[in-house]
Amino acid sequence: MEHLGRESPNDLATIKRILVVGAGAMGSQIALVCARAGYEVLCHDVAESSLERARKDLRSRSARDVAKGRRDAGQEAAVFRRLVFGTDLDALARDVDLVIEAAVENLDLKRRIFAQLEEVAPKHAIFATNSSSFVPSKLADATSRPDLFCNIHFFNPALVMKCVEIVAGPETSAETVELAKAFVVRIGKEPVVLKKEIPGFIANRILNAVRDEAVFLYENGVASVDSIDAACRTALGYPMGPFELMDLTGIDIGYFTKKARFAETNDPKDAPSRSVTELVERGDLGRKTGRGWYEYAEDGTPLGPA
Ligand SMILES: NC(=O)c1ccc[n+]([C@@H]2O[C@H](COP(=O)([O-])OP(=O)(O)OC[C@H]3O[C@@H](n4cnc5c(N)ncnc54)[C@H](O)[C@@H]3O)[C@@H](O)[C@H]2O)c1
Repeated sequence: MEHLGRESPNDLATIKRILVVGAGAMGSQIALVCARAGYEVLCHDVAESSLERARKDLRSRSARDVAKGRRDAGQEAAVFRRLVFGTDLDALARDVDLVIEAAVENLDLKRRIFAQLEEVAPKHAIFATNSSSFVPSKLADATSRPDLFCNIHFFNPALVMKCVEIVAGPETSAETVELAKAFVVRIGKEPVVLKKEIPGFIANRILNAVRDEAVFLYENGVASVDSIDAACRTALGYPMGPFELMDLTGIDIGYFTKKARFAETNDPKDAPSRSVTELVERGDLGRKTGRGWYEYAEDGTPLGPA
């Protein structure tokens, strides 16, 4: 497919201006990562309140980094001059080379965003989604540039986590993958390329497989929750065990992801497990409710298995 404006499709120098769509937990930090790497970044959200929160949050993180001597005050001031926030998607998209979409995880909404971007963004612009669950083939056909479409999937918190997965769909061109890879290196992250799409990608699939095995061992009476967590920490070098991690991220998050997956596949191994379902039905969702696999004091100190 012919695309105007980029002489060599894998020339990283052709990426100058980046649009981040969605200024929530992920989008705001992705925007700062890109601005710190020297890019001009336009950060869009439909909600003025989200933009305000993002501005405040990024400013205070930056001030903390400067106070601790981790960042230079002058350089950070220049970073924020390169970072523009706004609610007018059409105006912001008019002259960008790369879009990273990080709006809420809703397929119709994401498709609508990409269809609108198709109308206003330059023909050469690469379209990427940060979605954790929607693979390129679910979104790329909302545009007429499936060859320029991929997932660029950051991990939370995006300012800290090194890994960025790049997911190629069936129609993503090799040049787009190469360019995405070079871009990820340029912003100081470690690209991991998936040669073909698969729901959950790599890191979360492995994380989920470990979690499912931990729940299997517990439900079959092989060991207690804290023993399984201890084995993962002390034998495998994990920073925390799978049950501790579920309590931290929220037991409902994994539960709803599995429910949605099961609705799609009807494969019993995708269904939420008995013990997880019981916890969610009781409202014991982990640290945020004071009780999950473990119990927590008011100040968040773990008190032992629940
Ligand atoms: N949170 C994570 O751990 C994580 C990790 C990796 C990837 N992701 C992916 O990142 C994306 C965003 O997740 P998040 O955790 O930042 O969500 P979030 O809820 O913190 O932020 C989503 C933002 O999207 C905005 N939004 C809603 N509709 C919009 C629209 N039409 N146009 C522009 N913005 C719109 C909301 O106002 C909100 O500010 C999702 O696709 C998710 O799968 C999340």
